[in-house]
Amino acid sequence: MFSNLTVNEAGHLVIGGCDVVTLAERFGTPLQILDEGAIRARCRAYHDALRRHCAGAQGYRVLYAGKAFLTTGMCRLVAQEDLCLDVVSGGELATALAAGFSAERIYFHGNNKSVWEIDMGVSAGVSRFVVDSFDEIDRLARAAERAGKSIDVQVRVTPGIKPSTHSYIQTGQLDSKFGFSIGNGMAREAIARVLATAGLELRGLHCHIGSQIHEINAFGAGARSVVALIAEVHRLTGYLPEELNLGGGLGIAYLPEDSPPSVDAYLALLVGAVREAWQPLGAPLPTVLVEPGRSIVGEAGTTLYSIGTIKNIPGVRIYASVDGGMTDNPRAALYQARYHGRLANRMHDPVEEKVAICGKCCETGDMIAWDMPLPSPRRGDLLATFSTGAYHYAMSSNYNRLPRIPIILVHDGEADVLVRGETFDDLIRNDEIPAHLK
Ligand SMILES: Cc1ncc(COP(=O)(O)O)c(C=O)c1O
Repeated sequence: MFSNLTVNEAGHLVIGGCDVVTLAERFGTPLQILDEGAIRARCRAYHDALRRHCAGAQGYRVLYAGKAFLTTGMCRLVAQEDLCLDVVSGGELATALAAGFSAERIYFHGNNKSVWEIDMGVSAGVSRFVVDSFDEIDRLARAAERAGKSIDVQVRVTPGIKPSTHSYIQTGQLDSKFGFSIGNGMAREAIARVLATAGLELRGLHCHIGSQIHEINAFGAGARSVVALIAEVHRLTGYLPEELNLGGGLGIAYLPEDSPPSVDAYLALLVGAVREAWQPLGAPLPTVLVEPGRSIVGEAGTTLYSIGTIKNIPGVRIYASVDGGMTDNPRAALYQARYHGRLANRMHDPVEEKVAICGKCCETGDMIAWDMPLPSPRRGDLLATFSTGAYHYAMSSNYNRLPRIPIILVHDGEADVLVRGETFDDLIRNDEIPAHLK
């Protein structure tokens, strides 16, 4: 399914030059494997495409949306690839700062930044706050006063577009907790307020319509709507933003039949739409920013499980249980996301049946897949599920007190730990027994 996955003579899956059966012996299962080469290739695809499509613009920037997968090692990797970073919480910011990520390359998002998070961002010297609400404009103004310095902001607007993706990951519609609607005038009002607020410098606008989007025309429609707003504001106030942040959202392949658009096709369409809509303004194209998360790291991830209990319900289905589940992959339960997988130790064996892959949590909804085509699974087989790099570890939990799984980075036949697996000590580290229970 992916060019970075190969099979060796033993019939074992190979990722980043590493035999995954050997990786399972060394690190145990469940195990999350990230292919460093695949991540770097995606970062470079974004840079290459923007460099070409943004010719003549004031510049471009690729921001990695850390919400997809953020660890200190990942911060180093994307920094090496010259990406900036989008964070949405004090915790993500702290992770980036601990990794030595340069604050002036960090963009601070979030619909409910608390006062301490804003102060943390201001004192770290983050590049931009992406303003999400009228409340936040006030909070930022007070933070600027406290800090005695001005704060650079982008205003997040929602163009009223509902791309075809799961409703939980649509973000550009009117009825959303995010941003200011263009359609009902709130976006115009927010821009006017920021422009009139001492201590805030409006650098540009931001728009993100949703995630896991394959229908790229929706991105073009979103961009046109934002530029139309800019033209209106320019007419009314003379203000013209120097930067335009068009969010992330490019979809990836989870199943063999998925064929997501290439990074190049997506950016050609997106920047093309901006260029065309911008032309009547008679000014140079602004600096174009994009914020991909899933499309940087999603397909680079593979989760390796051991198959345990197999339950055959004649005439109904075969359940194969794995040693992880909704704790390391909440997307199946949350978004009814579907996954493809292979028996990593039997890659040459033919597909024999559709197997329901269930996790080990006490939830009927703890399913990785309902109908995964596989050779007849046996206890002890290794199941590799693909495209698990984004929004898995980042959304993982300790439900049923399952420790979070280790994550390794593979490259050129080498494997390095990116996140140690949790231990039982980690699980009880923050527990307290109140005195009267001792
Ligand atoms: C504001 C913003 N930017 C970027 C992203 C990253 O999106 P994706 O991982 O789909 O590229 C998200 C995710 O929903 C987001 O909310």
